[in-house]
Amino acid sequence: MTDPGLAMIADAAEPAPRGTSHDLFSKFDPLIQQREQLLSTGLTDPFNLVMERVESPTVAICSGRRTILLGTYNYMGMTFDPDVIEAGKQALDEFGSGTTGSRVLNGTYQGHRECEDALKEFYAMDHAMVFSTGYQANLGIISTLAGKDDYIILDTDSHASIYDGCALGNAQIVAFRHNDVEALEKRLKRLPPEAGKLVVLEGVYSMLGDTAPLKEMVAISKAHGAMVLVDEAHSMGFIGEHGRGVAEAQGVIEDVDFIIGTFSKSVGTVGGFCVSNHPKFEILRLVCRPYVFTASLPPSVVATAATSIRKLMHGGNKRAHLLENSRRLHGGLKQLGFQLGTDQPQSAIIAVIMPDLERGAAMWEALLHEGLYVNLARPPATPQGMTLLRCSLCAEHCEEQVSEILGMFEAAGKKVGVI
Ligand SMILES: Cc1ncc(COP(=O)(O)O)c(C=O)c1O
Repeated sequence: MTDPGLAMIADAAEPAPRGTSHDLFSKFDPLIQQREQLLSTGLTDPFNLVMERVESPTVAICSGRRTILLGTYNYMGMTFDPDVIEAGKQALDEFGSGTTGSRVLNGTYQGHRECEDALKEFYAMDHAMVFSTGYQANLGIISTLAGKDDYIILDTDSHASIYDGCALGNAQIVAFRHNDVEALEKRLKRLPPEAGKLVVLEGVYSMLGDTAPLKEMVAISKAHGAMVLVDEAHSMGFIGEHGRGVAEAQGVIEDVDFIIGTFSKSVGTVGGFCVSNHPKFEILRLVCRPYVFTASLPPSVVATAATSIRKLMHGGNKRAHLLENSRRLHGGLKQLGFQLGTDQPQSAIIAVIMPDLERGAAMWEALLHEGLYVNLARPPATPQGMTLLRCSLCAEHCEEQVSEILGMFEAAGKKVGVI
């Protein structure tokens, strides 16, 4: 991807005089200026918030005040589950604070195996590989699987970790328009039939909260001889009969070759993984650099993850409540006159589209003053240069909180003049 902003800076740069070093930070000057301009208005820095205390999955203390959390991706509210916390404490006592080693050397403890067993059971798949983050799972699996002369075909709105996985490897990259089935087919048709191909999709796209037409996309990919990887970071635990994600909900999980996920959302801790039925999958443990050349997760983390994953297998009631929350918030915001990322709620993410960065930042701050935290997202992370207030609901938000949240949006929206 080229960045026109950076190209402009390169053109304008004066050659550095002899003996003085060119300041490598100068490429960030436009961003520094934009940030300074925004903060000079007295605005609270939206990217520097501190949670002074966290009371529950839905409430924290920020700047001394009670704040409802609506931007944490803690979809199933597992961070304060008593069994999860107990498992972490016990592992800390019994195995210490860290492994100080790679998974392929001294960094595989009993807990890592148990965590992988829990994932295999959760997804009903033969193999599971746990990484230190979801970012590293994408980085490692994508860059290792698709080599020189292979093709990676990906959605333009893919997460940064998918793009970075492509950048780390040697494959040819082919992007297609977001969620456009025909565009995917067109791209696949143009590729050499005999070439290795990996189609990379996401179940839920986290910027707008929309789901992918996986049923059609997986079928087309398979018809063109491609392997398919689906990142279900934002659907695990919530979408699908067993919480396995959008691929399960659309009935194509059997045809997906690799599912990538994270522990940093529904599971409620940190870590990433890949599950698969491919018979040669285990060899990846020896050749996947972001798996081999980094320390494994601490025992307390894998213990909390395994306990959480096992509990998510029986999370039917929580899933139903989260769906209800998502419908109520989406309907309420629409009724108030906000422009939303999707016509109907498709996931636990509701994106509120702001007219510009200035009003987006002002709205973010007004909500914080009301006692509500949401995520502010801005270009280049967002599609089509949009400024978004991204709300992610939690199964632990009660009905009263959703009503309170809608009241806060109404007050802030009127104050800033976006409704
Ligand atoms: C789609 C997607 N994939 C991967 C990741 C990375 O997950 P982690 O936080 O575990 O690094 C994220 C995190 O935001 C994500 O949204």
